Amino acid sequence: MSRDAETSAPILPVLAQRWSPRSFDPTKSLTLADLTPAFEAARWAPSANNAQEWRFLVGFRGDSTFETMTANLSGWNASWAPTAGAIVVGMYEDDPENKARDYAPYDLGQAVAHFSVQAHADGLFVHQAAGFERDAMALAFNLPETWKPFVVFAVGHLGAPELLNETLQAREIAPRVRRPLDETVFTGPFPSA
Ligand SMILES: Cc1cc2nc3c(=O)[nH]c(=O)nc-3n(C[C@H](O)[C@H](O)[C@H](O)COP(=O)(O)O)c2cc1C
Repeated sequence: MSRDAETSAPILPVLAQRWSPRSFDPTKSLTLADLTPAFEAARWAPSANNAQEWRFLVGFRGDSTFETMTANLSGWNASWAPTAGAIVVGMYEDDPENKARDYAPYDLGQAVAHFSVQAHADGLFVHQAAGFERDAMALAFNLPETWKPFVVFAVGHLGAPELLNETLQAREIAPRVRRPLDETVFTGPFPSA
């Protein structure tokens, strides 16, 4: 089953091939060493003023960090993410006194993008999720007041779609779609609908 993007111009194969599954192989586990290249890729992401105001908290399936993370996922994320080998909470530093930090959430996203591309190149799959209890997650891990958990991402080996419930299974195999490029990029006034 190919999930490769249908592109209107040639792009790097890893970018066309990366996608976000919800089925992870529950028989495979991960260690920090497995994720080190992806974290290294995140480390080398650009950021405003090179501030690098991101941190990553990692839990591995079976440890208490992972358990606490899954307990704070919302909606259907709580049903699929627990079979991943690892869950990462991505956070940025929010410093209202420092204008230069305005871009911290943007920079975190860019670091996670680096992570996801490198992980995919290494044979792993990443599924990002905004659906989690931010305040509860911050409290559970005793994060300093200025550090804001903003995204979680499940990382693991690809599982079979059949491992999911019917609703998620349908989404797992649905075609991957994007708005066409000519509706996204413009060279004059903002296009009218
Ligand atoms: C910031 C962010 C938040 C997301 N939140 C969720 C989520 O809470 N639950 C979920 O199942 N998927 C979530 N996704 C996954 C997107 O739905 C997915 O990336 C998108 O549909 C494109 O699919 P693809 O990554 O397979 O190309 C999120 C993705 C991003 C980048």
